[in-house]
Amino acid sequence: MANLNCKIGDVKLNNPFIVTAGEHGRDGEEILKVAKTGVGAITTKTIVPHPAPDPRPCCVPMDNGFLNCVLAAIMPSEQWFKEEIPLAKKAGLPIIANLASADPNEAAELAVKAVEAGADMIELATYCPHLAENLEAQFPGLKIPPPEMDNPKPFYNTVKAVREVVNVPIIGKVSACHFSNILPWIEAGVKAGLDAVEVTDTIGPVMLIDIETGQPKLGGPRGYGGLSGGALKPIAMRMVFEIAQNYDIPIIASGGIQSAEDDIEYAMAGATYFGVCTVGHLEGQNRYTSLIKDLEDYLENRGITLDEIRGLTLRKVEERKEKGWDCNLEPIPPLVHEDICIGCGKCKDACIYDAITTENGKAVIHKDVCYGCGCCVWTCPTKAIENMYYKDI
Ligand SMILES: Cc1cc2nc3c(=O)[nH]c(=O)nc-3n(C[C@H](O)[C@H](O)[C@H](O)COP(=O)(O)O)c2cc1C
Ligand code: SF4
Ligand code: SF4
Repeated sequence: MANLNCKIGDVKLNNPFIVTAGEHGRDGEEILKVAKTGVGAITTKTIVPHPAPDPRPCCVPMDNGFLNCVLAAIMPSEQWFKEEIPLAKKAGLPIIANLASADPNEAAELAVKAVEAGADMIELATYCPHLAENLEAQFPGLKIPPPEMDNPKPFYNTVKAVREVVNVPIIGKVSACHFSNILPWIEAGVKAGLDAVEVTDTIGPVMLIDIETGQPKLGGPRGYGGLSGGALKPIAMRMVFEIAQNYDIPIIASGGIQSAEDDIEYAMAGATYFGVCTVGHLEGQNRYTSLIKDLEDYLENRGITLDEIRGLTLRKVEERKEKGWDCNLEPIPPLVHEDICIGCGKCKDACIYDAITTENGKAVIHKDVCYGCGCCVWTCPTKAIENMYYKDI
């Protein structure tokens, strides 16, 4: 069996799967239940001193994604420190206390109490895309200033204040809303003393509309929420990759993980741990158990380890540069393996350049017409079409 043991700082995890902040960390009882799935660590829902109720409805599944406008945990921080964290600790696995505060001093106070209550790690987030609008609607007169998306100083101050008062690992959870300019946030977090980063939180604000009624599908004033799940994966992937390219800090990938292949892809981008949330919300907590088993099987069947593949894509990209492949302009038609082709025609439909016909029940790529776009490779359900780019690296 593949050995998945790992550590964040000095905290030992049986495997790299971390249930990220969400409803599976909503209280001590729930954490005890989720711990039975065998995950490596569990994060609490965001703990705040003065919780506010969630606007309803607050959850909308969509094709390969999920919208939510749930706010923080519904019980106050004092209850978490007195009852919920001590109860959660009975699970016997590391508990990450996800904390949100009004200012750095409050963050430090919360962190001290969370650690005294038994939290093994602290998590601090940069931003939540739907919080302000929903809180302002609940508390008339409240005006939350718009976030300064290019100013990581408040995040730096918060992490630094917490770093000064606790010795446990601190994780910085970066919002996908910083996707176009992520590095200053990592720089600030690293300087302030982060031990790891979680990449990413949801992206938003986003919305969907019920066409039967014309109503926004989510509650709250305008039905704004955050997007998670598969649709978030390419955004999170690029952020993980870019952070790994520039910083030597352990990364928890969080965004649409649903399979061992997703774990492998994130590991190749540079991630060490795998955050899971939406998959468990939509398909039940037992999916966490199957994800662990699927990753073990994947590694074992191929005789590889996570350490070997971690950052592989960073190395490939370097090789591309060295070999002058970093901006290929020539089409290289893919290759159809006739023995695997079942003649379904999906590649033909997906070829906007009309370069594919089906002959005698098999796909044929016409090399003189092929634009080399690559679309057919990823469309084929039987993996009968081989990508011929980068064959020599
Ligand atoms: C219903 C729901 C509630 C969430 N609540 C929180 C939260 O309280 N604090 C937080 O930092 N992230 C929260 N998240 C974000 C997740 O922890 C996770 O980072 C994000 O959804 C991306 O991962 P996923 O695609 O695996 O869900 C929540 C996500 C969902 C779907
Ligand atoms: S690579 Fe693009 S252009 Fe060429 S056959 Fe495939 S889909 Fe058509
Ligand atoms: S999509 Fe794949 S299996 Fe279907 S016709 Fe094309 S090559 Fe064959």
